[in-house]
Amino acid sequence: MTMRIQPSILSADFVNFQRDFGTISEADGIHVDVMDGHFVPNLTFGLPMVKRMQEITELPLDVHLMIDNPDGWAGRYAELGVFSVTVHFEACLNPIEVARSIKSNGSRAGISIKPGTSLEAVNDYLEEFDQILIMSVEPGFGGQAFIAESLEKISAARKQIDSLGKDIWLQVDGGVDETNISAIAKAGADTFVAGSAVFREQDRNAKISLLRSLAESAK
Ligand code: DX5
Ligand code: ZN
Repeated sequence: MTMRIQPSILSADFVNFQRDFGTISEADGIHVDVMDGHFVPNLTFGLPMVKRMQEITELPLDVHLMIDNPDGWAGRYAELGVFSVTVHFEACLNPIEVARSIKSNGSRAGISIKPGTSLEAVNDYLEEFDQILIMSVEPGFGGQAFIAESLEKISAARKQIDSLGKDIWLQVDGGVDETNISAIAKAGADTFVAGSAVFREQDRNAKISLLRSLAESAK
């Protein structure tokens, strides 16, 4: 199974994104955290910044919308041509409509759940999406510790995806590093977001390769 490593630029230098993108060229994509200061208690950037990011990199952008009213915004991010757009189930009014609006604009559609949200809540919507993002920390900040109970949810999501028989990516975000990525891969994840674990390194590409090989050998 292909294992994908997507560094989160929440831990990058916010006034040097172009330079920092150049240091993660081995990544499978760049995870872009959009936060509105309402859905989560932190604020990052919005549509104009993501538009510029899309213009300056060849790497696929994986946009994680931690915002209220994703129904009104998700399609607009997809229109930029980004690779994928993920919305939070907790903030969505109509997950099926959102998925369709993302996909009709040419991006992959993702649905995310916070640690306190059960997988059962999204099961009925899962087949409309191309990927599910299991948050393994409370969303909002980088550098938090991985919540160990997330492993059970990841295993359950893997079973659910396999039972649907669809190629839905299983992505994990929050506290992923070299100490836990093998266990997360064994539980069934195939796509790994890592912010602080990658950006704290001098040689970020070496860390990306290490994380990928640990994930691949865990399967
Ligand atoms: C947290 C964000 C994550 C964050 C992960 O709310 O969604 O993408 O950047 O950072 P680390 O890998 O440091 O936990
Ligand atoms: Zn994220």
